[in-house]
Amino acid sequence: MTLTTLKTTPFDDQKLGTSGLRKKVSVFRQPDYLENFIQSLFNALGGVEGADLVIGGDGRFYNRRATQIILKMAAANGVASATVGRNGLLSTPAASNIIRKYKKTGGIILSASHNPAGENGDFGIKYNSSNGGPAPEKITDAIFEETKKITDYKILEIPDVDIEHLNSYKLMDMDIHIIDPVEDYQLMMEEIFDFDAIRKLIASGFTVRFDAMNAITGPYAKAILERTLGAAEGSVVNAVPLLDFGGLHPDPNPVHAKALFDLMHSDSAPDFGAASDGDGDRNIVLGRNTYAAPSDSLAVLTANAHLAPGYAKGIKGVARSMPTSAAVDRVAKSLNIPCFETPTGWKFFGNLLDAGEVTLCGEESAGTGSDHVREKDGLWAVLLWLNIIAASGKNVPELMTDHWAKFGRNFYSRHDYENLDLETANKLIADLRGKIPSLAGKTIDGLKVVAADDFCYTDPVDGSVSSHQGVRIYFKGESRIIFRLSGTGTEGATLRVYLERFEGNKEKLSMNTQDALAPLIAAADKIANISSRTGRVEPSVIS
Ligand code: G1P
Ligand code: ZN
Repeated sequence: MTLTTLKTTPFDDQKLGTSGLRKKVSVFRQPDYLENFIQSLFNALGGVEGADLVIGGDGRFYNRRATQIILKMAAANGVASATVGRNGLLSTPAASNIIRKYKKTGGIILSASHNPAGENGDFGIKYNSSNGGPAPEKITDAIFEETKKITDYKILEIPDVDIEHLNSYKLMDMDIHIIDPVEDYQLMMEEIFDFDAIRKLIASGFTVRFDAMNAITGPYAKAILERTLGAAEGSVVNAVPLLDFGGLHPDPNPVHAKALFDLMHSDSAPDFGAASDGDGDRNIVLGRNTYAAPSDSLAVLTANAHLAPGYAKGIKGVARSMPTSAAVDRVAKSLNIPCFETPTGWKFFGNLLDAGEVTLCGEESAGTGSDHVREKDGLWAVLLWLNIIAASGKNVPELMTDHWAKFGRNFYSRHDYENLDLETANKLIADLRGKIPSLAGKTIDGLKVVAADDFCYTDPVDGSVSSHQGVRIYFKGESRIIFRLSGTGTEGATLRVYLERFEGNKEKLSMNTQDALAPLIAAADKIANISSRTGRVEPSVIS
């Protein structure tokens, strides 16, 4: 067995975004690229001698290769143990659970979430700390600094090791444990939820469709929904994680999960429909002819979580990302619990969860989660919905309508303009920032601006400050528009425009969302000149 130290030189593009390092597979396949990043990560952690690491990913192209490289580097760097999901597979929430449950040093998650996979698709790596959550900015910044000065890396030059069989063995001095990716996750779900009640619901004829979109949640959903809770075989579709996700784009939204939306709006709709994303942390939930949009879903879950055994004692507080609608704020108010507004990205929930300030959290981008792990968790959200349905006897449309009748409705939509020219997008945002002081008090198309700012967040737990998190424009009547650039794309820039308007009038609760938001959509274009600057007449994705 040869332990080698190889000379290398830095790459200039290894800055981490909202969810770690995300690049085209072709970029990751350059000689030394992955190795440089992993060694920089190890260096940023102050070395990994004696560390216990978890390794797994969403099954996309390069997942296995990367797992092999990381194992050989981990052993060469003195890591004490590596716990690896069989075949290198672990959903993001499952990885978070393993880190927490077995008190590991941290975990390396191989995923580009919902981005397309395959040889021409994307790949990504992120590091999660001992609390099971995405590494905080001080670590990701330190990794980036290391990538700029790396000179060599350590690796074992040996043939690939066996990651296909459940087994424990040694690689030099490092223990390797190949584990079932599903088992611990399922045990945790059985502790949180009333599986008997859900089983009864399903046995009574309640039908379910779960679309795993050829990504990581297939094995989890098959084991839990079909084999344990009794959903008919075939209820989970696209259930085998494929290297290229079968060409699907596992981002659960009305565009990329169109097959599910079509089904749920057809005569053959089951009672319940759901989908997750590439690495299993996102979710969408639908009922017949009803979409429980993520911001609403967070509000409904917060209002009803106590119906699940894991939350029977109630909820301490909630947190939502800033662009997520304020629907949950209303629930928090009625429950008399705090509601925190954080920047986009799950890592900002970590401190609040660790400090016990919040129990549930969520983002408009189809992410919902709780303090059971430190990641958003797609299947968890699906099970919480099923538990609430089983306990309340109400289906998705009834739960939604009852919720709006009680709290009013925050009409909400996100318009994405993808693959924009980087310079154009940056200039658009820079100019918007410049406009902020002149906006307050202005009336645009009959909409009166009451306030405008660029969101700056001070973490209530550690006091750290994150600025420039999105331009927010508030209008009279509880409406707002937010503009920000995506931090997860790999091609050009993506402009996200978030639109929200509260409606308390019972007659208007069932309006079409885009119609309800039409005046704001027009105002957004007036304020940011989106169409004239980008040449786009409509968004690439409306969710
Ligand atoms: C997007 C979502 C954000 C989510 C992140 C990672 O980030 O908007 O809510 O946390 O993916 O899943 P963005 O591309 O907007 O930076
Ligand atoms: Zn994801």
